[in-house]
Amino acid sequence: MIKSITHNTDETLQLGKSLGSKLIAGDLVLLFGDLGAGKTCLTQGICLGAGLDKNTYIRSPTFTLINEYQGVVPIFHIDLYRLETEEEIMSLGLEEIIYSKAITIIEWPEKLISNKKPNEFKFGIEERIEIHIFSKDENVREFTFSPVLLSSREHPIFPLL
Ligand SMILES: Nc1ncnc2c1ncn2[C@@H]1O[C@H](COP(=O)(O)OP(=O)(O)O)[C@@H](O)[C@H]1O
Ligand SMILES: [Mg+2]
Repeated sequence: MIKSITHNTDETLQLGKSLGSKLIAGDLVLLFGDLGAGKTCLTQGICLGAGLDKNTYIRSPTFTLINEYQGVVPIFHIDLYRLETEEEIMSLGLEEIIYSKAITIIEWPEKLISNKKPNEFKFGIEERIEIHIFSKDENVREFTFSPVLLSSREHPIFPLL
């Protein structure tokens, strides 16, 4: 597990950018953290690092649920906050996205935790990069990065810099 602290949105963008530049097609990033923690801000950086044009505006998918961009590879940015029922979650076509040759970034991945088995995610998700964000102060954010079951991935992601 790796920890980073940022003190403003710019630092969070840079942190995201470092990670984004190391991601490859097929990677899945799960972003845990409360409202306003900085999940969307970090995603904006990840997208830049993954080759998205800096003039592309990365909106929060709060209402669209799924936004798709074209970086070096396709990038899906997903926000599950508003989803309530199992049915809503299952009807999004997430499985196809997660297992595609794209980078997938998911806010509120708690919604994918299996009801029956709290240690497991839906769709058989195993390999993933978990990022947990904690608000330490108004502008201070702590990020922990945990690659989970990524031993077969060819290139290491960490250290980030
Ligand atoms: N260090 C920081 N990194 C990221 N955002 C920060 C930081 N400090 C303050 N903020 C503020 O926190 C909010 C983060 O918003 P956002 O990225 O949309 O959060 P989330 O997607 O987790 O709900 C923004 O209003 C931003 O200005
Ligand atoms: Mg958000």
